[in-house]
Amino acid sequence: AIPVWLDCDPGHDDATAILLAGHTPGLKLLGVSTIGGNQTLAKVTKNALDVLDAVGLSHIDVVAGQPRPLMRKPMLCPEIHGDSGLDGPAGGRLLPRSCRQPLPGKAVNVMFEAIAAAHAELLKEHQAATAGGECGGGGGGGEAGCPRVRLVCTGALTNAALLLTLYPEASEWVEVVLMGGAMGVGNTGPVMEFNIQTDPEAAKIVFESGVPLTMVPLEVTHTVLATPQVLADIGAGGSDTATTTNTTATTSNSNSASSTLRDAASTAALAAAGGGAAAVAAALAASAASPFRHAIQELLLFFADTYKHVFKFDDPPLHDPVAVAYVIAPQLFEVRRMRVDIETISPLSAGQTVCDVWGQSPLPPNADVALAVDVPAFWRLLLEAVARADAV
Ligand code: BDR
Ligand code: CA
Repeated sequence: AIPVWLDCDPGHDDATAILLAGHTPGLKLLGVSTIGGNQTLAKVTKNALDVLDAVGLSHIDVVAGQPRPLMRKPMLCPEIHGDSGLDGPAGGRLLPRSCRQPLPGKAVNVMFEAIAAAHAELLKEHQAATAGGECGGGGGGGEAGCPRVRLVCTGALTNAALLLTLYPEASEWVEVVLMGGAMGVGNTGPVMEFNIQTDPEAAKIVFESGVPLTMVPLEVTHTVLATPQVLADIGAGGSDTATTTNTTATTSNSNSASSTLRDAASTAALAAAGGGAAAVAAALAASAASPFRHAIQELLLFFADTYKHVFKFDDPPLHDPVAVAYVIAPQLFEVRRMRVDIETISPLSAGQTVCDVWGQSPLPPNADVALAVDVPAFWRLLLEAVARADAV
């Protein structure tokens, strides 16, 4: 299994990234670190524990990272994720409180130890598989062909920047896969995406570190929409329901989707999504879906509501698990290698990921940028993970 460390700020879509990372057999989730972003560090750290417990991953530890960006004031995002950072459609926190505590110590140190150990293990396996073959050069394991731990970042890059600064050797051991940035239009600024805009200086450090890096930008995540069909599939349960076939549309159509819905109560919940929290709660309560599947539906319904309100999206994009999906199945993505620089100076666009799509920069390429994803295949991965979590 591929060892993965997840650095996140849950956050509704971060919660689904945790679920996907922890319930995909090809991945080994080493641990979760948090970063102030969607809400304060204290809130997102509690949320990470709540999510792990709720999805049957209580054996995974959480460690708190940085409460604020390297050089700037924190930016929070209550308009999308609510006051708790993980609100439900009925108001207040979505999930029951975990009684676990985060690990003591700083995330950067815990991440380093876990990544170092997992990389040593990877190297041993690699050498056994290649009959003692070295990874070339100094044997650090960072050379081409040697396996790397995946550091998946679905929040601001502050923890990742500290890791690569304090422990430069880690850049030989990890490959960073991040949800963030945009080639064009942003979401919290005209050309700025939230995670990168929150800590542009940290992003600059990570993008200029030389670490192998894949960026999954808004252009891709905005195609991964939690449509009524997706919500119905989540509620319906059973492996035969993971048949979502038409989730690529950039706008949803509840009427056409409803003809294929299998769970009438889910349909009612979806229809009520625009009709206020009480209607949604009532419709969900009447659904035949398991309580766990209800919780995932509620999570997506809250997200749907805030995305409708703030961005006028018909259906919400589920950003963060798309980065996890890249680790699971990179073949589902169209990717282009290019130079990406982070704007840190302009008052108009600090936090912009300046993507050199046509190779005009004199600087060498430093990132693989996802251009597209097979959306139905992504939802199948997520539905399979939901089914596994539901069976715990
Ligand atoms: C990113 O911002 C956060 O609000 C989401 O969790 C996601 O990581 C999308 O821009
Ligand atoms: Ca996030």
